[in-house]
Amino acid sequence: MGMNSVKGYLQQKENLVNSFLESYLIKPFSPGVLHDAMKYSLLAGGKRIRPILCLTAYEACGGHGEDILPQACAIELIHTYSLIHDDLPAMDNDDLRRGKPTSHIMFGEAMAILAGDALLTDAFRIFSQNNNIPTGRLLSGIHELASAAGVMGMVAGQAQDIISEKLTPDKDTVNFIHSSKTAALIRASAKIGAILSDADTDTITHIAVYGEKIGLAFQVIDDVLDIESSTEELGKPSGSDKKSHKMTYPSVYGTKESKNIAGGLIEDAVRSIKKINGNPDTLVSIAGYLLTRTS
Ligand code: IPE
Ligand code: IPE
Ligand code: MG
Ligand code: MG
Ligand code: MG
Repeated sequence: MGMNSVKGYLQQKENLVNSFLESYLIKPFSPGVLHDAMKYSLLAGGKRIRPILCLTAYEACGGHGEDILPQACAIELIHTYSLIHDDLPAMDNDDLRRGKPTSHIMFGEAMAILAGDALLTDAFRIFSQNNNIPTGRLLSGIHELASAAGVMGMVAGQAQDIISEKLTPDKDTVNFIHSSKTAALIRASAKIGAILSDADTDTITHIAVYGEKIGLAFQVIDDVLDIESSTEELGKPSGSDKKSHKMTYPSVYGTKESKNIAGGLIEDAVRSIKKINGNPDTLVSIAGYLLTRTS
């Protein structure tokens, strides 16, 4: 798949995800400000890369993506919660996200915290809704998602990220931070697609390795973009990592070597995905695209 057709494919899946998320929030509930805050962040845009990976992995294993749309979109709820909390004054203290003022700037800190709590919890309600997926597969999908988002994944990584603002950069620590705060959920996104499609265990493993490698590359590239890209292009403040003294790949390896590392990880991911029992082509193309992204 050429670069233009990957972009077309991603756009088409992004539209599918956006239409589900819009319908999810169509019915108002009380208190209205909580609904407004959830909607504000969820529908602010975003690349939707995690649900897209989930849908694409499912299709790579022979499924029809729309059958797992609620489960794929539940992952985006968790991701959006993580961004709202990541931007809070007590965390990265950023005032721009997805090209708009952050949740706490718009709604205050208490409502931003609660909108995050609501999105995190509601993700599991949406994920577990019965849409003809066998319950055993749904249950292992939920297990995977909870593992990746919680103390064995993202929350642990976010905690280490905050602690490490005061530490001297080192390879093992930055690898732990990035593998946990970002790669875990991206790995789970792809792996859940495979699990829900009832792929064989080897295929699930190859897809999980693919997800882990592109997930780590994704955060390494995020670090590089934080240095090299503009606030306008990113839709979030450029230079945020330096401001907060973050331990990043560039702070350990330098920018040039970080890009080489990201490239190597994408190669590893492609090698793994080519071993699946199914059609890896679109996942190969997405991996290549992620290396060239500019926002
Ligand atoms: C930003 O994620 C946070 C990271 C884990 C690097 P994305 O780059 O996927 O953000 P959106 O969803 O497109 O806004
Ligand atoms: C955040 O990493 C990872 C999350 C789990 C939200 P960053 O703090 O680098 O993400 P951005 O750059 O603010 O999107
Ligand atoms: Mg952060
Ligand atoms: Mg941040
Ligand atoms: Mg960043």
